[in-house]
Amino acid sequence: MIVGIPKEIKNNENRVGMTPAGVNELVRRGHTVYVQKDAGANSGFPDEHYERVGAHILPTIADVYAKAEMIVKVKEPIEPEYPLIRKGQLLFTYFHFACDRKLTDAMLASGATCLAYETVELKDHSLPLLIPMSEVAGRMATQEGARFLERPQGGKGKLMGGVPGVKPAKVLVIGGGVVGYAAACVAAGMGADVTITDLSLARLRYIDEVRPANIKTLYSSEFNIRAELPTTDLVIGAVLIPGAKAPHLITRDMLGLMEKGSVLVDVAIDQGGCFETSHPTTHSDPVYEVDGILHYCVANIPGAVSSTSTLVLTNATLPYAIKLADKGWEKACAEDEALYKGLNVVDGKIVYPAVAEAFGLPCEKI
Ligand SMILES: NC(=O)c1ccc[n+]([C@@H]2O[C@H](COP(=O)([O-])OP(=O)(O)OC[C@H]3O[C@@H](n4cnc5c(N)ncnc54)[C@H](O)[C@@H]3O)[C@@H](O)[C@H]2O)c1
Repeated sequence: MIVGIPKEIKNNENRVGMTPAGVNELVRRGHTVYVQKDAGANSGFPDEHYERVGAHILPTIADVYAKAEMIVKVKEPIEPEYPLIRKGQLLFTYFHFACDRKLTDAMLASGATCLAYETVELKDHSLPLLIPMSEVAGRMATQEGARFLERPQGGKGKLMGGVPGVKPAKVLVIGGGVVGYAAACVAAGMGADVTITDLSLARLRYIDEVRPANIKTLYSSEFNIRAELPTTDLVIGAVLIPGAKAPHLITRDMLGLMEKGSVLVDVAIDQGGCFETSHPTTHSDPVYEVDGILHYCVANIPGAVSSTSTLVLTNATLPYAIKLADKGWEKACAEDEALYKGLNVVDGKIVYPAVAEAFGLPCEKI
């Protein structure tokens, strides 16, 4: 198959859809890979690394789309890419169709096959191509929270791990899923005094079994969260109710319970945020203050560590990309149910029920 790796053109997106290691695997199997010039530069992969394993470098994004039967990338195509996509072409990337009607209409009109990373789903309902980004975002959430607790960054000037004779910072993680547990482990590793809340007793039981000694579990309720806030220095919001907007678990009046210079990191901002006072921010201007409390609400946290994020994402996507290249999407999806669930748009028709429902459009069965 002819595979194309374009350079991401969405604002501040530094990841790339395939590493030289991935290209190496495809070329070894007899596939042809075209990589756009500088596609991997911001993730630490110069063009020479791709050329060394047999990729052909093309100067423009239009060249890559024109040649490729399958495009492998990271973010959904944006407007300048729409006219480059053609009937019968396979696109394997994040799409998040349900929140973007324009993108959905453009992909339907293109006649391409759109296989979305975010809906590839294993039998146990886990989402293997979303988990890697949550693992990164959780770890980063603590790193960023610790930074903004520093006085020059606007925080109260508290060291996460404390020092002999001085207590460590207190961290409250709301939501103990992939993001929350990763955030808690990094905070615990820094020596902080960490509490994780969740509504799922099964999840709290699991965490209780595997946790380091300085992580405690607490059932999530408004009462319990209010009781924690006066002594908490850093709150990490990491809840998810699949398919729904995040609930506001810290309301504006609750900010008054916290000491000035405390920090809220709202990782759930991509689902609307789990603090009432959250609004999305960017890596170039990540924090703002409400009632003396710093809010960090970056919607694409993994983008800041593009080298790590590219590696962890492509570790997860490569086995699927190989199947698609080796077998073609029809055979690969027929043989692998997880991959079949990734199909969202085929030949001008929506085939993923939640996307069809979001826009009141028909859903075709394939
Ligand atoms: N900002 C970013 O860059 C970024 C990156 C990755 C993920 N995210 C977001 O982070 C959030 C968490 O993702 P995840 O992968 O950890 O999800 P997950 O499903 O693994 O975990 C979510 C957890 O929240 C718990 N929960 C639900 N309601 C709760 C409540 N009221 N109180 C306490 N816990 C509650 C669930 O029981 C679950 O354990 C999602 O909104 C996701 O979209 C953001």
